[in-house]
Amino acid sequence: MSTPREQNEYVLGTQDAELLRLGFQHRLWSRQAAEAWEAAQFRPGQHLLDVGCGPGYATTDLAQLVGAKGRVLGIDTSERFISYLRARVAANGMTQVEAAVGDVQAMNLPEASFDGAYARWVLCFVSQPEKVVRGVAQALKPGGMFVLQDYYYYRGLAICPSKPVVRKVVEAVDQSWRMRGGDPDIGKRLPKMLKQAGLEIVRIEPLVRAARPETALWQWPTTFFVNYLPVLIEMGLITRAEADEWNEHWTDCTADPASAFLTPPMLSIVAQRVEA
Ligand SMILES: C[S@@+](CC[C@H](N)C(=O)[O-])C[C@H]1O[C@@H](n2cnc3c(N)ncnc32)[C@H](O)[C@@H]1O
Repeated sequence: MSTPREQNEYVLGTQDAELLRLGFQHRLWSRQAAEAWEAAQFRPGQHLLDVGCGPGYATTDLAQLVGAKGRVLGIDTSERFISYLRARVAANGMTQVEAAVGDVQAMNLPEASFDGAYARWVLCFVSQPEKVVRGVAQALKPGGMFVLQDYYYYRGLAICPSKPVVRKVVEAVDQSWRMRGGDPDIGKRLPKMLKQAGLEIVRIEPLVRAARPETALWQWPTTFFVNYLPVLIEMGLITRAEADEWNEHWTDCTADPASAFLTPPMLSIVAQRVEA
């Protein structure tokens, strides 16, 4: 039986299936996260913020990074995700983690109180990303680092071999996020937004990966589309027949070792609050 919907949940939902998917997704992308944290010089003893932390998979990695003398605050709008994170840190004795339910577009954190912040796959889902960036900027100490990892061209997702239904479904995903106020190409707007908030980019890199069947990364789209095709049908963006056609194509690709999947291009950015 599926878990009930939460009020104000984001477009991908906060049900058990999504909670599990986010955990798997984090493991697939944790190396890229850790590299960016290293570039930002996140280190023991620091006070870090995880913006839109979800169930807190990155939050607990950051907590281990800062150690018992550091602190990590994770904020997310989902009570279910935050409860899950609280239970996990309590069970593991991670007293350096604080988890709060809240809208990251209205954070109002104490001025200059954090050494660093992390936001992955969050700004693409909010209608006022400028407010998130401004909120983080004011909460960072001068010299503090903001690491962002987000999409800059979602429609760049590719499956080889392709079929018209692939375009149709990818465009439907893009459209569904926009209908809920998000922007699947948010990365294109981030450099200007960061500058306007007094943050200087010190590192910017594309994140694009290719996967072949029978690899862990191949399971990333598998787990995403299993959850999300029903939502696209519900939103009237694809038909059941198109979902079936997608599933058939994906099954054929999975059975053929010559297939490939290209992830939607993302940006990994490290930006620094300009010294006062
Ligand atoms: C794709 S998940 C990413 C979670 C986490 N950052 C990660 O990388 O594993 C997006 C998260 O953003 C949260 N979210 C979306 N809009 C939000 C808002 N306005 N305020 C706080 N959290 C929000 C959702 O609840 C969800 O947990």
